[in-house]
Amino acid sequence: MINNQHIQPSKQNTQTSRPMIALITGASSGIGLELARLFAKDGVNLVLVNNAGTQVYGEFNYANLEHLSAMLQVNNTALIELTHRLLPGMIKRKFGFILNLGSSGSFAPGPLNAVFCASKAFVLSFSQALGAELSETGISVTTLCPGATKTNFINRHGLQNVRIFRYVMAANRVAEIGYRAMWQKKPVVVAGWVNLLQVISFQFMAPFFPLTPPVWLMAIGRLFMGKTRSSRKPEHLVKEFK
Ligand SMILES: NC(=O)c1ccc[n+]([C@@H]2O[C@H](COP(=O)([O-])OP(=O)(O)OC[C@H]3O[C@@H](n4cnc5c(N)ncnc54)[C@H](OP(=O)(O)O)[C@@H]3O)[C@@H](O)[C@H]2O)c1
Repeated sequence: MINNQHIQPSKQNTQTSRPMIALITGASSGIGLELARLFAKDGVNLVLVNNAGTQVYGEFNYANLEHLSAMLQVNNTALIELTHRLLPGMIKRKFGFILNLGSSGSFAPGPLNAVFCASKAFVLSFSQALGAELSETGISVTTLCPGATKTNFINRHGLQNVRIFRYVMAANRVAEIGYRAMWQKKPVVVAGWVNLLQVISFQFMAPFFPLTPPVWLMAIGRLFMGKTRSSRKPEHLVKEFK
């Protein structure tokens, strides 16, 4: 389960008399750390940031099943559990913000990154539906969707040679975009205009994805991820995490 939640001790906001609490998962590095810095600078209100996430890159067939399950546990199950546990308090106070980390991969099937993209599609779908359910409660749900971002994520998951990671955004910039969108109660924000263009093109293609021949989808996957290694040995295809 989540082992590095950064919890600001509850203190009183003199302007609003609201409790000041932020719970950020995965704040030890990267986007989560930058978000923690922003919250610490401004003082926060009742906020849950589901940021912790992991990645298993490569062809599904060769991926380690334990690693895939662990990824779903962090990216999805923990997010659902934490949200379910903290929501009643927010509803009672008729106040709160939830910021969930999706990805530009939330918007399309991702060959060579299939389970990660599916897990982030789950985050986006769940967050939008929850935001709708909470629309009259004073609680907002925002999904921040980064594209490739310069964090430990890249080395940790062996993504250095993956094509889309040649062009990366800075983590503090991504965090600022998500932070601002959260206060503005935007349901979804894509970090950076290049990623936004990519997501818009996915949106145009979305109705056709079910009809798209698998070889075309695979070609799109290769376009983003680069060539699959010709060797089909699992140890060359699956990048381990931790
Ligand atoms: N970087 C990108 O290109 C990119 C692109 C799209 C989406 N995202 C998403 O952005 C979010 C933040 O990622 P990042 O880029 O900032 O990566 P990062 O620097 O690797 O940070 C990931 C955070 O998640 C925590 N975490 C990972 N596995 C965990 C586990 N099993 N239990 C508890 N905590 C765990 C890590 O904690 P420890 O350090 O203690 O392990 C770390 O604090 C993730 O949800 C990721 O999927 C990132």
